[in-house]
Amino acid sequence: MAQNGILVEHVYKAFGREAVLEDVSLYIPPGKILGVVGGNGSGKTVLMKCICGFLKPDKGMITVCGKRVGKDVDFPESIGIIIETPGFLPYQSGYRNLKTLAALKGKIGKKEIMEALCQVDLLENRRKAVARYSLGMRQRLGLAQAIMENPQVLVLDEPFNGLEQQGVKEARKLLWAQKNQGKAILLASHNAEDIRELCDEVFPMEV
Ligand SMILES: Nc1ncnc2c1ncn2[C@@H]1O[C@H](COP(=O)(O)OP(=O)(O)OP(=O)(O)O)[C@@H](O)[C@H]1O
Ligand SMILES: [Mg+2]
Repeated sequence: MAQNGILVEHVYKAFGREAVLEDVSLYIPPGKILGVVGGNGSGKTVLMKCICGFLKPDKGMITVCGKRVGKDVDFPESIGIIIETPGFLPYQSGYRNLKTLAALKGKIGKKEIMEALCQVDLLENRRKAVARYSLGMRQRLGLAQAIMENPQVLVLDEPFNGLEQQGVKEARKLLWAQKNQGKAILLASHNAEDIRELCDEVFPMEV
């Protein structure tokens, strides 16, 4: 059956002898935010990379928007991703970076990019080289990139890293808005308040 959102079924992943994911199952329906919590090295990022198709699980099945990752598609089609610190071309402007990335799929143009920049409050700084961005500005650009193509699911690994209090508030609002638009969102955060404020459900990783 086609299943919207993010479905993870009995996923296992080990590196050598080190088992990182052991029988992980979860489901995030459209319009819900699931928070994944756990200490350093508990496997949050590995789980996210498996969902995005960057790592292949040893066992189990991951389905995103009704398509099995690694079977029906190599990578989920409608996904916005922040994993660890987003990488951008430092000597190009924020706007140019997004334009280059948008050109890969050719789904969106200037209007959508400007809207995304506006949502993360980067319009004024869009012409500045990313090398001259602060950490928080780079993180905002990462958020803009994640949402600009209006994907149905979002996988966000510590998306509020480096944001000051006001920035965190705005980013939370942005995620609420995304949720209310029916996005299925997986969020990893070490910040208990982010998790409490934003998440409909919490998934604790076992260490
Ligand atoms: N490519 C890899 N090769 C080998 N081991 C890896 C690889 N990626 C992750 N690991 C191991 O998998 C475990 C889980 O790592 P992961 O990055 O998922 O942790 P995390 O929960 O995201 O931690 P943090 O809170 O620090 O971000 C760690 O022990 C890590 O060393
Ligand atoms: Mg991590």
